[in-house]
Amino acid sequence: MASRTRKVFLGTFIYSKSREELSYLVNTAVCVDESGKIAAVREGCDRAKVEAEVLPELGWSLEEVEVRACEEGQFFFPGFVDTHIHAPQYPNVGIFGKTTLMDWLSTYTFPMEAKLAAVDQARRVYTAVIRRMISHGTTSAAIHAARGVESTNLLADLCLSLGLRALVGRVCMDEKRTCPDFYCDESPEDSVLHTRACIAHVQEIDPGFEMVKPVITPRFAPSCTAAALGLLGELRKETGLPVQTHISENAGEMALVAELFPDVKDYATVYDVHGLLGPDTILAHAVHLSEDEAALIAERGAKVSHCPSSNSCLTSGHARVRWLWDRGVEVGLGTDMSGGYSPSVLENARQASLVSRHVAVGIPDGPEKERAKLTVEEVLYLATRGGARVMGLGERVGAFEVGMEFDAVLVGLGLVGEDGVAVGEGNVDVFGWETWEEKIAKWLFNGDDRNCRAVWVRGTLVHERA
Ligand code: GUN
Ligand code: ZN
Repeated sequence: MASRTRKVFLGTFIYSKSREELSYLVNTAVCVDESGKIAAVREGCDRAKVEAEVLPELGWSLEEVEVRACEEGQFFFPGFVDTHIHAPQYPNVGIFGKTTLMDWLSTYTFPMEAKLAAVDQARRVYTAVIRRMISHGTTSAAIHAARGVESTNLLADLCLSLGLRALVGRVCMDEKRTCPDFYCDESPEDSVLHTRACIAHVQEIDPGFEMVKPVITPRFAPSCTAAALGLLGELRKETGLPVQTHISENAGEMALVAELFPDVKDYATVYDVHGLLGPDTILAHAVHLSEDEAALIAERGAKVSHCPSSNSCLTSGHARVRWLWDRGVEVGLGTDMSGGYSPSVLENARQASLVSRHVAVGIPDGPEKERAKLTVEEVLYLATRGGARVMGLGERVGAFEVGMEFDAVLVGLGLVGEDGVAVGEGNVDVFGWETWEEKIAKWLFNGDDRNCRAVWVRGTLVHERA
């Protein structure tokens, strides 16, 4: 899905320079070539300067470029990265009652996923969820599909055609003691065979894995036999493909892991001994990790997807992002929809801020208590650049730098006029006296899809609000 036209974007560009700091580039031109890559970033530049200086330097002519300029109150922000989402669970958003993980899985999740393993229902649901994700500004996502090969392949097709950058994985689950009869792989070999079929399909539709890439997906240790985990570990070694799974989300789940793998030291080691922990492994949740497990994950270079909304909805607990960072683990954000109630990464960024304050409540007064609280800049890093690193896309997306690909959201805020009426829809009212830092904080805590005026992936427009 490469963009065919060269484009120039003009206005304010905001992105994470580091975990702690946002860059604010005002009056800036970002030039994007026909492959969707950023060819030039020029600060202090207006349309006239672009025409007179920047385009001639690039050897581009004005007639061939499309120009998109911010209107008042608008800015470009990197597209959001959802490092953990379950596409077949979309019809269940918000439906979790008082369940916790294991009864939530059996009550709501497995029956819905079993339904969506069939292609007819999957097309409708997957189209809807991808469109919804993009409308909230998500441009990259690591996605768990259902068990069906055909429906997983359809999900990959739809990501490609609708323009979502994605890791797509068919869930493997072959443990008869924990998986329901109606939703269980026949054997460990079956798990691998079906995974291979999905890999082959993505190789066909996107041979360079430019937009869509397969991901080896053992659902979580309790739903896989040791044999299946081992075979999937071998598949990882053979193909070099990434892995995604869950870890230490909930106390009942952890007890089950100890019961099913009595000879293995801890949960993280279960994945490690089966060859599943490496720099391209995404571990969702990591709420209750021990020091030893965090050290092992850091040593292997595996990454964590923090899913704050899900961890509140399912009463799982509070993941300690600062604690993980202090131990050298890279972290991104996951909506974990429908464990989490929303497919919005922005929603999860604010939830990450709030959850970090709950973590702080449990820490005695002092500098560590203050450090536990995540700043606006830090949660927006998690939502973009951190997530890109978790997905193995750190060199390609998450910032507006030359050589990176242009995945972006044009954000518009409401400007309140003298009469008290805001121009522009949405929930963020700006009065004109706010600094950029204050506008960003207001957007983080009150923004939603109405503020996502337009979305680009690899320089191609994939969504625009009418
Ligand atoms: N653990 C195993 N499967 C799932 C799932 O679908 N969602 C969540 N949140 N945790 C899981
Ligand atoms: Zn999940």
